[in-house]
Amino acid sequence: MRKICIINQKGGVGKTTTTVNLAVGLAKEGKKVLVLDMDPQGNVSACLGVESDKDMYDFLIENADIAQCTKRVVENFDVITSNERLHKAELLMSGEAARERVLKKKMGKTNGYDYILLDCPPSLGLLNQNAMLYADEAIIPAATDVLGVDALRKMVAAIQKMNEVFDHTLAVSKILPTMYDTRGKLSKNMFSLMQSEFYGLVTEPIRLNSKVRESPGVQKPVILYNKNGKGSQDYKNFIKAVLRDEMKYDSKASKIAARGKLQIKEVEI
Ligand SMILES: Nc1ncnc2c1ncn2[C@@H]1O[C@H](COP(=O)(O)OP(=O)(O)OP(=O)(O)O)[C@@H](O)[C@H]1O
Ligand SMILES: [Mg+2]
Repeated sequence: MRKICIINQKGGVGKTTTTVNLAVGLAKEGKKVLVLDMDPQGNVSACLGVESDKDMYDFLIENADIAQCTKRVVENFDVITSNERLHKAELLMSGEAARERVLKKKMGKTNGYDYILLDCPPSLGLLNQNAMLYADEAIIPAATDVLGVDALRKMVAAIQKMNEVFDHTLAVSKILPTMYDTRGKLSKNMFSLMQSEFYGLVTEPIRLNSKVRESPGVQKPVILYNKNGKGSQDYKNFIKAVLRDEMKYDSKASKIAARGKLQIKEVEI
């Protein structure tokens, strides 16, 4: 099972968009996916058009069972939604001794999923610390502009600091350049800069695309809303790149591979 937080302390860089498209794409590939919305803005439910009676607040604070809080989106894809009540959860958690590991404790030995994706809020607060200490991997969407590169450097440094302070091993598995503007030189230059600074981690970019921007309005990720458009193409490439990493980051897949039994097939999303 892979536990991946989609994180950047900078707002509006495409974290939620990436989370929902990745989740749908993986589910279409037959992977069992659970998305945890760690953001009190609650944008995951808005992007997917799902609501549930019990949510992340009930799960973290009210001792609700995970099954009660989980809502099915489509086949293979479940979600625990959030809303502004999660701000209160953060305040309540701040009084606890092991406040940074509340989520990890609640998730316990939850399995039955191939991927757990955590959509993080734009901060480095307690909710994100909980996400980082539960996850094994971080995907950092980063805007291809000057402030985007600055935020990326700060995010990578923050993960290193978290690992040091909490003796954790969160790995940055992918950096995803977003909001890529093909018309000017700035995005190209910032993409090259990211590649040179974070060699081997930077994927192909997600281009600026009007259908991606429209997709929350129809409550569907762009790979379902505009299947053959540029936004879909870019996200499908990204999903393939994440799947290719399975042997590196999924302990079950890597054990099977070590025994020489894993066939790598080219995915068709
Ligand atoms: N490739 C893209 N092209 C055009 N618009 C995009 C693209 N990706 C995301 N957007 C739009 O940009 C806005 C911010 O995206 P999103 O909500 O995914 O970012 P975020 O990092 O999750 O934001 P926050 O930090 O507030 O949680 C949304 O309106 C979204 O529809
Ligand atoms: Mg978001």
